[in-house]
Amino acid sequence: MAESFNVKLEDTRYTPEKSYQENSWLGGYDPAYQRFLNDPEAFWADIAGELEWYRPWERVREWKHPYARWFTGAKCNITHNCLDRHINGIHRNKVALIWRGEEEGDERVLTYRQLSRQVLRFANALKKLGVAKGDAVCIYMPLVPEHVVAILACARIGAVHSIVYGGFGAAALNTRIRDAKAKIVITADVGIRRGKRVALKTIVDEAVVNAPSVDHIIVLRRTKPQLELYSEMELDFYEIMENVEPVCEPEVMDAEDPLFILYTSGTTGTPKGIVHTCGGYMVGTYYTTKYIFDMKEHDVHWCTADPGWITGHSYIVYGPLLAGATVLITETTPDYPDPGIWWRIIEDFGVTIFYTAPTAIRMFMKFGEEWPEKYNLESLRIIGSVGEPLNPEAFEWYYRVIGKSACPILDTWWQTETGMHMITTTVGEPMKPGFAGRPIPGIVADVVDKQGNPVPPKIGGLLVIKEPWPAMLRTVYNNDERYRQYWEKIPPYYTAGDLAVKDEDGYIMVLGRADDIIIVSGHNLGTAEVESALVSHEAVAEAAVIGVPDVVKGQAVKAFVILKIGYQPSEKLKSDLTYHVRMSLGPIAMPAAIEFVPSLPKTRSGKIMRRVLKAQEMGIDPGDISTLEE
Ligand code: WTA
Repeated sequence: MAESFNVKLEDTRYTPEKSYQENSWLGGYDPAYQRFLNDPEAFWADIAGELEWYRPWERVREWKHPYARWFTGAKCNITHNCLDRHINGIHRNKVALIWRGEEEGDERVLTYRQLSRQVLRFANALKKLGVAKGDAVCIYMPLVPEHVVAILACARIGAVHSIVYGGFGAAALNTRIRDAKAKIVITADVGIRRGKRVALKTIVDEAVVNAPSVDHIIVLRRTKPQLELYSEMELDFYEIMENVEPVCEPEVMDAEDPLFILYTSGTTGTPKGIVHTCGGYMVGTYYTTKYIFDMKEHDVHWCTADPGWITGHSYIVYGPLLAGATVLITETTPDYPDPGIWWRIIEDFGVTIFYTAPTAIRMFMKFGEEWPEKYNLESLRIIGSVGEPLNPEAFEWYYRVIGKSACPILDTWWQTETGMHMITTTVGEPMKPGFAGRPIPGIVADVVDKQGNPVPPKIGGLLVIKEPWPAMLRTVYNNDERYRQYWEKIPPYYTAGDLAVKDEDGYIMVLGRADDIIIVSGHNLGTAEVESALVSHEAVAEAAVIGVPDVVKGQAVKAFVILKIGYQPSEKLKSDLTYHVRMSLGPIAMPAAIEFVPSLPKTRSGKIMRRVLKAQEMGIDPGDISTLEE
């Protein structure tokens, strides 16, 4: 881990109009943070009290480092709060979900009542297939309404969903199915991307080989003629919903029962199955959607992530539905059929809250201002960013060109592990380009040195969270040891693995990862994962992977490869290896560059020193290399 270091900070700030804060749910940052400090448990209890529970909690929080339990003894079901609570109230016929396909006019709209009817039927269909509380269900789908239906149906019956992003390849899907021991895989025949069909079912076919836990594959068939389903094992998404009861009482869940597993890259080759629970996650995502995004009755919320990432779990599905919002989802890619498509969607649907990633913003900067200028973006009220640092240039562009120098930008720092926003400038507070902001009310975060002492302003250090929070991960599936590591690096704090720096006002700038994780277009990749995909190719003896700067993607993958004896370096082999990684892990993991090398820098114990490769690549001093062998 890095030591503390000096960072040069600029002090530009933008302050949104007063009315933003006056009319916000949170009110001002300082009084809200003070309310939290005065009585943290009362603070969270008040928020939890806005939701409906079958049985109230005995204690708000139980903390025995490194294990926390929230809302102990309480019973709930998150879908009751996402669906029934609205249907029983004034939101029965409010639009819950708007879907827009790639084709103009390809739209579907579901009210809360309609969404609920689908969810309940699908939940009953899962039950009929023998899925019970605690069983794992893998969802590998394109961004269509049925994806959301599948997620909520699992939660309805207490099945633990494990969503795998539809861009992952067969090997990555297989690892995740096997680790979670998924009984069911829910998929679609195809996803649609840039006018082309991506055959998802074919990838599932490959991924379920050697995955004995899988009893059934449920397939949403979108294309005509319909894909043929072969064995007893394969079932049609809508056929199984036909002869089931329309009513499905929610499973009564303990607040601490698992809600889902979501795999994220770690520093070893195996991804970590982050486990989130029903009660705390529900309160955390509800709180941040309502009080941080400041979700109001008439908001149309568009988060451009995919449900396969935590951002989609928390801010496409659970948070907004808990808050009773209208959620826009779309299968479109940002530059197809042209780079105006996203702005056209904002105009068409009157999107008011827009949440995207810095990589997308940088891509739009390259396309030029003429694209957003063609459309009316006046409906936008709040714009957000997540996934990697929002660099000042991208901030300025986003603020001026998209937000028309009026919208607050929420640069939200958080993680798969945190489940919910942790650090951001709240609505109406002064914003500083490059800085995510301060820890939100409810969260205690700091920048510290290796010993856990806070570092002074303008000195870089490690980002830690000092107190447990409701939506925190509870364990790593099948590997509690890896869970404990988060809390044991700088005890008693949670170490996020990020480098950061604070200024005099307590604003935090996140600088990037302190470990072997590369963030490519906002997606986390473990270097070890890509390396093991490379060495699984017959020509490769050894491989090392680093992240190199990329103007649009933030970082890109560069691979150094030692070939086995008998193989010669060639351009053809480079493209074979790239293709091989694409097929195993998916397009996001594809190396942007491959270099064949005779040896790799290693420590005496045989660990590859990626730091040295990176320093060579960037032409900088690699620092202390005394542990290097050669
Ligand atoms: C990075 C995504 C800077 C960070 C929700 C973190 C950010 C990792 C920001 C988690 C931000 C996320 N500014 N860096 N606003 N948001 N990150 O698990 O390195 O996919 O540790 O969760 O993304 O990525 P994950």
